[in-house]
Amino acid sequence: MRIAASLCLAALASAALLASHSAPAAAQSAPVTAATPPMGWNSWNFFAGKVTDKDIRAAADNLVATGMKDAGYNYVNIDDTWEGQRDADGVLHTNDKFPDMKALADYVHSKGLKIGIYSGPGSKTCAGFPASLGHEEQDAKLYAEWGIDYLKYDLCSFIPEVMMKQAPNDKAEQMRIMIAAYEKMGKALQSTRRPIVYSLCQYGWDAVWEWAPALGGNLWRTTGDIDPHWDRIYAILAQQDGLAKYAGPGHWNDPDMLEVGNGRLSLNENWSHFAMWSMLAAPLLAGNDLPNMKPEIKAILTNKDVIAIDQDALGKQGTRAYSDGEVEVWTRHLSGGAMAIAVLDAGDSRFATHPFHLDLAKLGLHGPQRGKDLKTGNDITLTPNMPIEIQSHDTLLVRIASPK
Ligand code: GLA
Repeated sequence: MRIAASLCLAALASAALLASHSAPAAAQSAPVTAATPPMGWNSWNFFAGKVTDKDIRAAADNLVATGMKDAGYNYVNIDDTWEGQRDADGVLHTNDKFPDMKALADYVHSKGLKIGIYSGPGSKTCAGFPASLGHEEQDAKLYAEWGIDYLKYDLCSFIPEVMMKQAPNDKAEQMRIMIAAYEKMGKALQSTRRPIVYSLCQYGWDAVWEWAPALGGNLWRTTGDIDPHWDRIYAILAQQDGLAKYAGPGHWNDPDMLEVGNGRLSLNENWSHFAMWSMLAAPLLAGNDLPNMKPEIKAILTNKDVIAIDQDALGKQGTRAYSDGEVEVWTRHLSGGAMAIAVLDAGDSRFATHPFHLDLAKLGLHGPQRGKDLKTGNDITLTPNMPIEIQSHDTLLVRIASPK
């Protein structure tokens, strides 16, 4: 018995050894999709329903011309309103705004970029165009044939059409139906064998962060829609606290696409939006008018130091360390033991209404900390309890290489 047991243990041990040796090889052969938060540009925040093939080509051209591609923005994502009608075989065609999706995908790829598309589990998208209900596998196959690299899948009409119809008075059952719908498209995408980033857009319902990774979700919206107003951007930021543990390589919380450069956001607001989304390890999907981008907006969107925070290989989302009146202090742990600190004045008065003193001890830091101010590019030393004056809606973002 004893001999048999120890033989058995030896066999188990060598099997474990084999497994541990072959694991890295397997990991090498299948790179993680969205190992860092996806970066790119999406048509919705600027064009909404007016986007055309021409706008997508111009976006691709401008990502290259402005240096945004070199800074890491590599997805060009078509949002809602590209869809035409299904033919007798159920194959979905594009509408007049998009004469030839395959040719468009080829064009975007020819620029060294990737292309994304949009659909949903209902029969209609949010803008009322045909979506994928009952055609999930067929649509996934079509996307793969076109060469699509990214799918945003938006709940919308599935809520009244299926969830509320099938389980009118049963919220829990409605959620199960919703999860099954996302799982169905996840499987359909996987069966194409093309690496397609899967973006869940269902506004954070039913703690999506708990179940989305298991069904192949690479990112999931955590809230309702963003719009280019500071109050909305800040409200979304406030809702991210507590979600950090769900983010990591291959699966990210998505506080929605960037509004940097849109509407009437002040320069401070544009900067803070970008700085804080990077602290959140958020997908960085610009949504501005690229051909007419102002230099100061380009400077924000292509700030390499900030992008490096967002794209940090550790993939650890930042958290709010503490707040003091209108000022909030967020920290993010980075690879190599580095740390990012963001001090945001979320208040409406020009400066915080009472003098703010940075409490380094609350961040687990002791004594002066030498770092880089990522807005100015200058060296900065943070000292315990130093007074910091930050303008309304501005952020001091500092990278500390060796926090003590
Ligand atoms: C929803 C989504 C938006 C956008 C629109 C398109 O509102 O949340 O991001 O995709 O639909 O109709």
